[in-house]
Parts: sequence; C-alpha cells; structure tokens
Amino acid sequence: MRITMVGTGYVGLTTGACLANLGNDVICLDIDEKKIEMLKNGKVPIYEPGLNELVAQNVEEGRLRFTTDTKYAIESSDTVFIAVGTPEGEDGSADLRYVLEVAESIGRFMNGYKLVVNKSTVPVGTAEKVREVIKKYAQYGFDVCSNPEFLREGSAIRDFLSPDRVVIGVDSEKAKDAMIKIYRGIERTGNPVMITDIKSSEMIKYASNAMLAARISFMNQLAPLCEKVGADIKEIAKGMGLDKRIGSRFLQAGAGYGGSCFPKDVKALIKTLKEKGCDGSILEAVDNVNEKQKKYVIPKIKQLLGDLSNKKIAVWGLAFKPKTDDMREAPSIVIIEELQKNGAKVRAFDPVAQEESKKHINQINPEHSIEYAKTPYECVEGADCLVIVTEWDEFRQLDFNKIKSLMAKPNIVDGRNVYEPKEMKEFGFNYLSVGRS
Ligand SMILES: NC(=O)c1ccc[n+]([C@@H]2O[C@H](COP(=O)([O-])OP(=O)(O)OC[C@H]3O[C@@H](n4cnc5c(N)ncnc54)[C@H](O)[C@@H]3O)[C@@H](O)[C@H]2O)c1
Repeated sequence: MRITMVGTGYVGLTTGACLANLGNDVICLDIDEKKIEMLKNGKVPIYEPGLNELVAQNVEEGRLRFTTDTKYAIESSDTVFIAVGTPEGEDGSADLRYVLEVAESIGRFMNGYKLVVNKSTVPVGTAEKVREVIKKYAQYGFDVCSNPEFLREGSAIRDFLSPDRVVIGVDSEKAKDAMIKIYRGIERTGNPVMITDIKSSEMIKYASNAMLAARISFMNQLAPLCEKVGADIKEIAKGMGLDKRIGSRFLQAGAGYGGSCFPKDVKALIKTLKEKGCDGSILEAVDNVNEKQKKYVIPKIKQLLGDLSNKKIAVWGLAFKPKTDDMREAPSIVIIEELQKNGAKVRAFDPVAQEESKKHINQINPEHSIEYAKTPYECVEGADCLVIVTEWDEFRQLDFNKIKSLMAKPNIVDGRNVYEPKEMKEFGFNYLSVGRS
C-alpha cells in the first residue's frame, strides 16, 4: 500500500519505518526542514534503539522516502496517517492545532479518496473535528479513523511490530478493510487487532495512559509511609505484582513520571472529564502526587548535606526514562532547577540526552551554570552528593569503590531505587532512596 505519514517525530518515524518494513511504500512528511534534511542524508534525528538500521534498510530498498512537500505527500497516497504532536495547551487540554492544520492540508490537497488515520493521541470527539475540517475543502470522498499508538520510546520498534494490541476505531467497512490490510503482517504474528468505534478507540489511549500513570502515583503515595514504618516499597511492589489481577509493571516508586505522554495525557483527560461535567478527582490526585514527587529527592539531599549553597551535586540521568533522548517533562528538569535555586552547583551525565537537555533545562543560577560530564565517573569528581534521576542500565554495574574515591563526600540519593541499600552501605555510602528506609 502507499502510505503517507504526516509528522516524522518519535511516533511518525518509527511507524513509517515499520510500515515500510512490512512492505508498504511510505512517504514521511514533516514541516521541520532540518529534520527531513538529516533523514535524507541518512541521519536519524532522534535516539531510538534499532531505528537507524531500520530506516537505512528501508530507504535503500526504496520503500521509505522523506519530504517537506505537503501537497506531493498527500497526493501520493490513498492512506494518510496523522502523527503530529498534541502538546498540552495552556488550560491543560490537548492542543489540536497541529492535527487540525494537517486535516486542512488533506482537504486542500486531496486528489481522490483518502483514508485519514489519526495516530496522534487526541481527546474523544477529535475524529469528528478532523472530518469537519476536511469536509470544508474536500472534493472527493474520505474516511477518518482512529488508530492510537501505544509504543514506548526506547523499545518503539518492538512495541510497534509486536504490540499487546492494535486498536482501530472505524465507522465504515471500507476503512475497516483497509486498516486490517495495513496491520495484517502484525496480526499474522499473533498480535490482536481490536476493531471498535471511533470514540471508544480515542478513549482507550487516554484511559490506558491514565491507568499506568495512576499505578505509579499510587506507589509514590505509599513510599513515604514505607520509609516511616520501615517497610520496603520494592518488596511491596513485588508482593503486589505477583497477584495476577495486579501484575508487576508500572509499580515502581521513584522521582515521578515524565515524558511526552503521561503528564499531558492525564491532564487532557481531566480536562475532558470536567468539560463533560464528570468527576476527575482520581486523575487530579494522580497528577498532584506526580508533581510533588518530582521534588521528592530534594529534602533527602538536604538531609545529607544541610544547606545546598555551593554544594557540588552530580546528577546521573537526564532523559525522562532510559533508552531515549526525550527530555519532554523529564523530572531531571525540575530537580536540577530546584538544586540551582538552592545555590548548588550541578554537573550532569546522561548517555544520550545531554545535547537535548540543553534545550529544556533553564540555567537559573548564572554563577553556577550546569556542567556536563563525559562519563559517570567524571560526573562525580569532587561531588558532595550523587543523585540518580534516570535508571539507565549503564549505571547498574559501575565501580563503586572508584566512585567513592572520586567524590568529596560519599552521599547518594537514588531517585529510582537502582541499588540495594545494604550493598551501598557496605561500600561506605550514606545512601537514601525512595520508599526504603
Ligand atoms: N512519543 C511517544 O512515546 C508517543 C507514544 C504514543 C503516542 N504518542 C502520541 O503521538 C503523537 C506524536 O508524538 P511524537 O512524540 O512523535 O511527537 P514529535 O514532537 O516527536 O513529532 C511530531 C512531528 O510532527 C511535525 N509536524 C507538526 N505539524 C506538522 C504538519 N502540519 N505537517 C507535517 N509535520 C508536522 C513536527 O515538526 C514533529 O516533527 C502525539 O499525539 C503523542 O501524544 C507519542
């Protein structure tokens, strides 16, 4: 099939490359000229394991192309995926500006029937809005369907090609048949494809992300209690997770969730609930707990160091989670800004997100601009405290005798519970973590 992917970001590029790999002829469109130029020159603008190779292979075999020419991209395919951003608007609702701009372009440039597939995460009712916008300009027939994406950055290719489920919301047989054909290669390998109505499909995405975020905030709310009574949140999570009704995933207490999805999707769902006169109190609590949780490590650092002014703090991990360079809503932003406000000097290390972080972390204290280190060891040189913010695998097996000898003081605040308190004590560290006394 000939497919156009509008938006060549984390979702659009991964989806485009995977659909090309399944044998489709894919054009990825973006308005970001720099991004498309890089891709045309064989460079993938984001860090996503395996994506370089997948893109290169499909470009070489002639199934994947890149363009900034909207008219050409829309004219070239019968199926147009919308995979542009839906960031948080000023009032917490999803900002649909980019989605509706694409809808207008589709209406203007369509040269025959188009199946419009909305892959962006959008509030319930958005397909209707997209349909209305296209209708204003359309001279040909078209269908709009919903196909939310559940991939996770860091394992995006595997998640796309081997998902727990594909959700498709349709209201016409023609759209249904075309979508089943697109996903046939994925269904054939045993991954369920769920066909439903458009509104339910749109809501499945928000409900799923909100549930996962709720699990994290739930555990984070229990973490201080564990510390007070001498229980261990990791043991609690393990014991809970063994219950098949609960399952073990997304039960990790820590420095809060971040990223380009959970924070904005929880807020957008709260907004939709309120707009429709429904109670959003569970999700408001989820969001509030998370906002507080991002600063949870700060009192712990103060517990070890007292006043933070002029103290040297080493921060390991900047990306909102391991295996990505995505810094959107990363807890590291809040933590580093808070450290700077307290007069601390920050030196940070992240295996891939350092460059990206410069666009996101404000240099609040001009006297102490953040330094970046080339290795985790360089990062801790002379530090009064090491703070772990992202649980990269690279931090799991390091030489802690060396780390202790490089630091000015042997203090660690582990915001992701990467290490065992007993082992860290044996190395001679003052070690504080989340929900473990
Ligand atoms: N990132 C994730 O892990 C993830 C997972 C599932 C769903 N989603 C959802 O997918 C959507 C896209 O997210 P993302 O992380 O890929 O965003 P992104 O910011 O990485 O990419 C969006 C791209 O769309 C481009 N764009 C904007 N307007 C355009 C237009 N008119 N024509 C062509 N290109 C245009 C931008 O330049 C950008 O490159 C969002 O709704 C998000 O919530 C994201």
